[in-house]
Amino acid sequence: MEKMPFRDAQPVTKLQAVMATRSNTTTSDWKQALPTLTGSMVTLRELRLSDAPALLTMLSTEEVARFISPPPTTVEGFERFIAWTHRERAAGNYACFAVVPHGMDTAIGIFQVRQLEPGFGTAEWGFAIGSAFWGTGMFMDGARMVIDFAFDTVKTHRLEARAAVLNGRGNGALRKIGAVQEGILRKSFLRNGEYLDQALWTILDEDWRAQRTVWGGRVH
Ligand SMILES: CC(C)(COP(=O)(O)OP(=O)(O)OC[C@H]1O[C@@H](n2cnc3c(N)ncnc32)[C@H](O)[C@@H]1OP(=O)(O)O)[C@@H](O)C(=O)NCCC(=O)NCCS
Repeated sequence: MEKMPFRDAQPVTKLQAVMATRSNTTTSDWKQALPTLTGSMVTLRELRLSDAPALLTMLSTEEVARFISPPPTTVEGFERFIAWTHRERAAGNYACFAVVPHGMDTAIGIFQVRQLEPGFGTAEWGFAIGSAFWGTGMFMDGARMVIDFAFDTVKTHRLEARAAVLNGRGNGALRKIGAVQEGILRKSFLRNGEYLDQALWTILDEDWRAQRTVWGGRVH
């Protein structure tokens, strides 16, 4: 997540706004529109411009933003970020899912996946969830679906994540999902004027498939 900036972009036009509200359709081609993925606790779907106020509330708190690239600080900033995610998805570079708990309509967080090389052979993922929903199991539920998406739909073979060493929950979550810590990237992340060390965590497609058999019923 730390290497996955919240991008700022051009002001959102009315046409973009209309297109964005229509983009939450399920399709086999994720570049046209992200699939809607349904888990046991949350649904993952394409971001909508109307998610901006909720995401501002959820992700701009100090405890959430402490170890990630600074999120936008206004609703308009989040709208520009959301419009940027749609353009990057259409270009085939990146996917960003909204996390929506069952029984709710508003986004409480995001999962992002971006290619680290053309063709998505290696990719990086990142995530942030409103702190009211930490420790609820929603991260694990969403993470499994995003990793399945990366390996099964996008055909990534190596999925990387970077977490500041000081980020206990971020590293704990990655360890719990089964990622392997490969090393420490020394002073690799500039945050609040200070360079922080990051842990590099990876999941390989074959390891994930083997792990799914252990969880049961998830083999394709
Ligand atoms: C990262 C994030 C999405 C994880 O979601 P979550 O609901 O907090 O994750 P979980 O509670 O399922 O898992 C975190 C694990 O870390 C453990 N943990 C918490 N603090 C810890 C610490 N200081 N050291 C080690 N492990 C810690 C938790 O106990 C938990 O493991 P457990 O379920 O076995 O007890 C969420 O914390 C978040 O949005 N954080 C802010 C944004 C962020 O830092 N993103 C990650 C960048 S890599």
